[in-house]
Amino acid sequence: QEIHYFSEIGSTNNEAKKLATNGCPEGTIVVAEAQITGRGRLARGWFSPPGKGIWLSVVLRPPFSPMDAAKCTLMAAVGVNRAINSVTGTGCGIKWPNDILWQGRKVVGILTEMSAEMDAINYVVIGMGINVNIDQQDFPSEIAATATSLAVAAGRRISRVKLLTAILAELESTYNTVKASGFAPVLADWRQQSITLGQQVDVRGVERHFTGLAVDIDADGALLIKTPNGIERVLAGDVSIRP
Ligand code: BTN
Repeated sequence: QEIHYFSEIGSTNNEAKKLATNGCPEGTIVVAEAQITGRGRLARGWFSPPGKGIWLSVVLRPPFSPMDAAKCTLMAAVGVNRAINSVTGTGCGIKWPNDILWQGRKVVGILTEMSAEMDAINYVVIGMGINVNIDQQDFPSEIAATATSLAVAAGRRISRVKLLTAILAELESTYNTVKASGFAPVLADWRQQSITLGQQVDVRGVERHFTGLAVDIDADGALLIKTPNGIERVLAGDVSIRP
C-alpha cells in the first residue's frame, strides 16, 4: 500500500486522481495536514485548516459496474461512521446519502469521484473530510451554524492518528465485505446508522418539490419517501434533503 503524505496540498482528491491515472495500486491513500483548495460536493469548497482534521483520499479499483459506483460512497459513510463512534463515543449518524452529523451539525463530508470506461470502473477516489479538532469559533461564518467537529462533540481533543488508523481498518473491512457478500450487509448497517430514516424530509429538486416521510433506502442506495401520492424514489445528486 502506498501512503502519500503532504503537509500542504491543493486537494487530496486531485492528487489521488493523478496517481490513479498513472496506475497507482488499489488502496493508495493521500493525506494532508492542510488543503488550500479543498473541494466539496456541488462545486463548493471544503474548509481544511492545518493540523485540525483528516483530509483523506483513498483510491479503489472496484470490480463493479460503473452503475454501482455510488454505493462506494455509502460504503465509506458506514465505515467512517463506525470508526468515529468507536474512537470518540459521540453517537454520530449518517444523513442520506453520505454526510456524518452530530446533533444536526456536519462533522464529515464525502466526495466520490470516478473514472470509468463503458462497462468497467478504472478507478474510484473516495475523498473524506473529517473535522477532528476544529474549535467551534474557528469555522468560517458561512458554515458556523451547520458544521462542528468531533472535539466539540466529545468535549476533548481526538487523536488523529488513532482515528485515521481506525478509519482505514473499517474501510478495508467494509470493502472486503462488499466484495465477498455484495452490498446487502452494508445497506443493513447504513439503515442502522441512519439519522434520516423515520424523518419528515423536504425534497427540492430541479423538477419536483415535495415533502414526505423517509422510510427506507433501496438496493441502489436511493431514498424512498412516503407521500400522499405513494412512494417517491430519490437518487443522490437529484435533490437536497432538508430534515
Ligand atoms: C461534501 O461536500 O460534503 C464533501 C466534502 C469532501 C471533502 C474532502 S477533504 C479530502 C478530499 N479532498 C477534497 O478536495 N475534498 C475531499
